[in-house]
Amino acid sequence: MNVFSGIRPSGDLHIGNYFGAMRQWIELQNKYNCLFCIVDLHAITTPYEPKDLQKNILETAIAYLAAGLDPEKCVLFVQSDVKEHCELAWLLGTITPLGDLKRMTQFKEKSKKYPQYLNAGLLNYPVLMAADILLYQTTLVPVGKDQVQHIELTREIARRFNKTFGNAFKEPKALLSQGQKIMSLDEPRKKMSKTGSPKGYIGLFEEPSKIRKKIMSAVTDSGKTIKYDPKRKPGISNLLVIYSLVSGKDIKVLERELKGKGYRQLKKNLASLLIDFLSPFRRKHKEFLTRQVYVKEILKRGARRARLQAQSTIKRVKTKMGLM
Ligand code: AMP
Ligand code: TRP
Repeated sequence: MNVFSGIRPSGDLHIGNYFGAMRQWIELQNKYNCLFCIVDLHAITTPYEPKDLQKNILETAIAYLAAGLDPEKCVLFVQSDVKEHCELAWLLGTITPLGDLKRMTQFKEKSKKYPQYLNAGLLNYPVLMAADILLYQTTLVPVGKDQVQHIELTREIARRFNKTFGNAFKEPKALLSQGQKIMSLDEPRKKMSKTGSPKGYIGLFEEPSKIRKKIMSAVTDSGKTIKYDPKRKPGISNLLVIYSLVSGKDIKVLERELKGKGYRQLKKNLASLLIDFLSPFRRKHKEFLTRQVYVKEILKRGARRARLQAQSTIKRVKTKMGLM
């Protein structure tokens, strides 16, 4: 079984990404034939800085390797290094109804957000994504909820191709991130995200002093009891969720252990635990930062392996379409 997912080259990961999605990816690489692709061609559909792109790609690769992707167990590569992605996207574009692309939620949202940048690439974004997935005869695509619509469209494209030209593709399924949702530390009713204020998220490679400061100043409530109650006590509940994830203890057990203790004590304990938990991530991250030649070699090797699979799909598709 092949697993494929795309990673936007946007650099730093936070603990929400890790507990919400990354952790499953790391488990998947032990079970399946996994390909993880840094999707630079998707990144250029919204405003970006060309001079920063290479740096962002490398930083993203380093972040994922430090978080636990293992180049011996999965294929990690950059999308634009395998030109078959563009080739298949063009071919699939010819059987994708314009109306399907115009109704995609992400297209509508992004066209509103970047009205000056409304380009055909943004509209065709899901076709390139379908190409990414279908090139590798993928069966499972681990993604967040917001990408499910794109996977559905990918399935329709595969089905239409198979019906029109004969069987060439497997129909992939979305594998929804099943991890815990982590909320922002300073606005605990909102999801932790890197686009919010820096006080709200904890980077996976963040320095201990910053981790402690952010946890100690996390927004709570005016009460005193340490109890999991996301409706009335979103801040404390979120801290308990994080506590439970890093300690491996059930929230019920934590409530008992922390009974009668103040919020300050809870935060102090959690900060120390989190600093320890993230210590191997920080160490690996620093190590990879000094081994950039090696990281580039991993990406090159990944592209070579991906290309082999991609080329055989392209051959099949072109033959069926009468292009070969
Ligand atoms: P994003 O960086 O928002 O594109 O998210 C990448 C992946 O991380 C998606 O699969 C999300 O579901 C997951 N993710 C992002 N933020 C959080 C969060 N605060 N809690 C849990 N999962 C998250
Ligand atoms: N569109 C995805 C996102 O915004 C990234 C992506 C590109 C992707 N190609 C993919 C995800 C293929 C899964 C499979 O997050």
